[in-house]
Amino acid sequence: MDILSRREWIRLVGASAAGAAAVGLPVKDSAATANRRAGSVEPYTLPDLPYAVDALEPYLDARTLTIHHDKHHAGYVRGLNATLAKLEDAQKKGDFSAVQALLRALAFHGSGHVLHTLYFANLHPKPTKPRGALLAALKAQFGKVEALVSQLSAAANKVAGSGWGVLAYEPLGRRLLVLQIEKHENQVVCGAVPLLVIDVWEHAYYLKYQNRRADYVSAIMNVIHWEEVARRFDRARRIRG
Ligand SMILES: [Fe+2]
Repeated sequence: MDILSRREWIRLVGASAAGAAAVGLPVKDSAATANRRAGSVEPYTLPDLPYAVDALEPYLDARTLTIHHDKHHAGYVRGLNATLAKLEDAQKKGDFSAVQALLRALAFHGSGHVLHTLYFANLHPKPTKPRGALLAALKAQFGKVEALVSQLSAAANKVAGSGWGVLAYEPLGRRLLVLQIEKHENQVVCGAVPLLVIDVWEHAYYLKYQNRRADYVSAIMNVIHWEEVARRFDRARRIRG
């Protein structure tokens, strides 16, 4: 596969205004690009929720959503910025004695920020249905949408500990993949673009569902913003393998 150009990468991870819109990352986060150009060590910002905190009731309760966004997601943004600042400091000092721990933290907090941004964007109080090229790809690969939902739900339900169920597009094989990511950064397939992500950390559901993770996963399927997933897919499949 061709190495992704910087422009393609920016478009996919949403580090520019156009890219942000392309994968559902709020345009507000395009401030990251300007800050990076200015040499700031605080390039990432917490996007606003794209709906009211009680908009996903009764499937996701307002208290859980508030804490999840304002505390947990915000924490990953802070952790990412703090890690980048430490890496910048290490670079200036020429002291890379802590580089292993810092890069581990970068992967954790960076992936945490990206995944949470996608998660909140791929939910919507007025759920939609898969359409267009995404619908065709789902039918071609899984037979029917319900089969994909079953596999994705099983992957999410069976994550060992904290993690994510993910539908991704892998450009080299030009195929959809269901992934099971542990924490935020383990068990990824390099280059695969996340399209739909289901957070199964306990902080995403425990207040309402306690230990009933499967009930939460089943409930959240009622508020999936498939239009958004289809839009991400349309962008991702332009990458040439
Ligand atoms: Fe989370």
